[in-house]
Amino acid sequence: MDKILIKGGIPLKGEVHISGAKNAAVAIIPAALLVEGKCTIENVPDISDVDSILAMIRSLGARVEKPDINTVVIDAENVSGCTAQPELAAKMRASYYLMGALIGRMGEAHVPPPGGCNFGTRPIDQHLKSFECLGCMIDTDDTFVNINADDLSGGNVYFDVVSVGATINAILAATLAPGKTILENCAKEPHVVDLANFLNSMGANIKGAGTDIIKIVGVSSLRGGTYSIIPDQIEAGTYMAAAAATRGDVIIKNIIPKHLESITAKFEEMGVTIEEYDEAVRVKADDKPLKSIRVKTLPYPGFPTDLQPPMVVLLATVSGTSVVTEGVWDSRFQYISELEKMDINVDVKGTVATIKGGTPLKGASVSATDLRAGASMVIAALCAEGTTEIDCLRHIDRGYEHIVDKLIAIGAQVERIND
Ligand code: EPZ
Repeated sequence: MDKILIKGGIPLKGEVHISGAKNAAVAIIPAALLVEGKCTIENVPDISDVDSILAMIRSLGARVEKPDINTVVIDAENVSGCTAQPELAAKMRASYYLMGALIGRMGEAHVPPPGGCNFGTRPIDQHLKSFECLGCMIDTDDTFVNINADDLSGGNVYFDVVSVGATINAILAATLAPGKTILENCAKEPHVVDLANFLNSMGANIKGAGTDIIKIVGVSSLRGGTYSIIPDQIEAGTYMAAAAATRGDVIIKNIIPKHLESITAKFEEMGVTIEEYDEAVRVKADDKPLKSIRVKTLPYPGFPTDLQPPMVVLLATVSGTSVVTEGVWDSRFQYISELEKMDINVDVKGTVATIKGGTPLKGASVSATDLRAGASMVIAALCAEGTTEIDCLRHIDRGYEHIVDKLIAIGAQVERIND
């Protein structure tokens, strides 16, 4: 089993290059099933969630080539399957995007309920509601959600909750559906916009992505082309938190500063100096004490839930009491019990974590309990006294490209070992 060993206490300094966005890539790759002709997708992160979604579309008959580690060429001409393999789907949440993509491409989809990180109930009722509004018939058996889309057509969907996945799935299902679709109360995350931009660049007619209301006029076909995925907002925020938590000075490159506004605002409130450039931010926390703050996670443009664990660790390094409220997931603080092995002082009540910061974190052996929890353990280890050993790296590998190399490049003492 692989482990990461980190010797803490070294301020990070230097430059780190951010990869393409995981949550855009895992939506855009299945979207390529809707396209006639070859799609070349650039800036694809080299992470295991991408490997999993590529394996899933291959198993449906798509041809996939990787001319280099960050470029994927997908030719979906020979796709003939409409049943996703359960053992592949269980590996990741985004397997549910095969529902929307197969509805549009095949008129039929059999996809198991998704896997992925476990933070309480993760329903897909809004995804299924949107398919029904577009004329689909759905039944669920022990293994699959079975969707018949013989009567697929445009329709109106009002989402009861703001859901990234349901918004993306509805866009996928509606892109080739005859007629007009109106989606209301949509998620506005950058990866929703990136998916719409990808589909529009291949000939779709999708307007309003990034706002509450998305309007789609179904087109009869999409043509192939080349598209480059946006930088990963969450990976960028993770390195920002690591730089600030170690009281370092790091330039984070290949980012879209606008996507980081809610993060930048909170860091500045803490007293971190942020310098913004066209495609980079400099995070400097080596010259003055930081302040405790309150943070609430919300759908975009609010502070992202996926940066809640890194933020908790950053706040644990700051003297005083900080409060973090989780506003998206019911149960996303389970990782705290693992961090308690490193002497973090956090009291969790429901969706509110009260952090008593400023006492030193201690190196320990911990397990990455999920993707972003794993990232928070890496940050805790970078700040801690002594050496920390992190296992269950499969979670971190799902979403962080070459994390060990990137950390070494900014001065961290970290190595990956096979135990
Ligand atoms: C996406 O998950 C991301 N995953 C998650 O990132 C992220 O935490 C989440 O959006 C919120 O930003 C991918 O993009 C693959 P949601 P998703 O549907 O789409 C409720 C990471 O670390 N809800 O926006 O599954 C739900 O329970 C991962 O990269 C319903 O009630 O999240 C939650 O409270 C982890 N019914 C809220 O909406 C539904 O049908 C938001 O969930 C769907 C969701």
